[in-house]
Amino acid sequence: MPALVLLGAQWGDEGKGKATDLLGGSVDYVVRYQGGNNAGHTVVVGDQKYALHLLPSGILSPGCTPVIGNGVVVDPSVLLSELSGLNERGVDTSKLLISGNAHIITPYNVTVDKVTERFLGKRKIGTTGRGIGPTYADKINRVGIRVQDLYDESILQQKVEAALDVKNQILTKLYNRRAIAVEQVVEELLGYAEQIKPYVADTVLILNQALEDNKVVLFEGGQGTLLDIDHGTYPFVTSSNPTAGGACTGAGVGPTKISRVIGILKAYTTRVGAGPFPTELFDEDGEALRRIGGERGVTTGRDRRCGWFDAVIARYATRVNGLTDFFLTKLDVLTGWEQIPVCVAYEIDGQRVDELPYSQSDFHHAKPVYEMLPGWSEDISKAKTFADLPKNAQSYVKALEEMSGAPISAIGVGPGRDETIEINSFI
Ligand code: IMP
Repeated sequence: MPALVLLGAQWGDEGKGKATDLLGGSVDYVVRYQGGNNAGHTVVVGDQKYALHLLPSGILSPGCTPVIGNGVVVDPSVLLSELSGLNERGVDTSKLLISGNAHIITPYNVTVDKVTERFLGKRKIGTTGRGIGPTYADKINRVGIRVQDLYDESILQQKVEAALDVKNQILTKLYNRRAIAVEQVVEELLGYAEQIKPYVADTVLILNQALEDNKVVLFEGGQGTLLDIDHGTYPFVTSSNPTAGGACTGAGVGPTKISRVIGILKAYTTRVGAGPFPTELFDEDGEALRRIGGERGVTTGRDRRCGWFDAVIARYATRVNGLTDFFLTKLDVLTGWEQIPVCVAYEIDGQRVDELPYSQSDFHHAKPVYEMLPGWSEDISKAKTFADLPKNAQSYVKALEEMSGAPISAIGVGPGRDETIEINSFI
């Protein structure tokens, strides 16, 4: 019953696509359990580069069944265009399964996301503008539209009416926008129904049966630990639970079934959107990390904010996710620095603090306490084993492992599928 959770240990964009894809060849199911097309995975296969937003990265592995779990929010137009984009490039997508309980991102959810951000002005979250937050809000408010509603026109009509009742008041009276017509939304959603139907399934049953049959199931988190609605830097977070517990609720498997939780950890830190980021750099080092690391959002095209590695965050991720392993990515990006600063603790109002403060105000004031580690200048992209790495790169990895609280079982040394050092096998 090998069930692995793979998730971002920082603020997302740690290189999960590469890690999931690497495991994709040996897993039977790859399941997304939260988020939607706010995610962005870049997967490089041979000389082909794929940017996925909604679909699980297992879609690129022929033997693997990709699953969109009940905890995901699905924009049908994005789903269909991502599928047809892959089909045009010869990728077979026919095995995809979508939970009938997953919620739909409707056109009005996208409108509300954009309008709300504009209204917040300088207090904005910096969302991806894809309607993620408003769709989860509707789900919690019990006025959401689910995939299964597409197959009962009268229910769909009633639910869209219920959702727009209040929303149109807000749009017209508060935001000074035009009301959205129920009929137009219903017609658009029904237009997607038949195309999506072949994929819709009872994914909870299928996944639990697969685990009973000893199949390997990989749960793939979108975003990252510090963007979690409960455990992240609220309110500058996404509206779902990328942390390990989210895999259970977002896919319908019990916690006793999870055998391994792997945190993807970038060898430095990045963040998109607003919110605190203690090790953020505003100098040429930050610019160099952005340039060398290609730190530009796959989904939004926004430049990512860049900074040094933060061990306090890594320890926190180990704790809230119960991590059993780390997959360290992008170590090659750090090649060329004489010394590499690593944040080992914070200074908050003159006091040294070793763990992530629960208080938002304290975290906003946190200043990094750095330890300097010696750098390396050799090209490491061809390294196949840990011993192939220059001594200082080995020490950097070992230091991160000690500070972060879980073994580093794989190291990414380049963007390609095979540019990875495997230390302990994941399966
Ligand atoms: P939302 O998920 O679009 O509501 O955006 C909320 C916050 O999460 C914003 O700061 C986004 O930039 C951030 N975010 C959402 N998805 C990702 C991701 O896949 N990687 C990194 N940041 C993300």
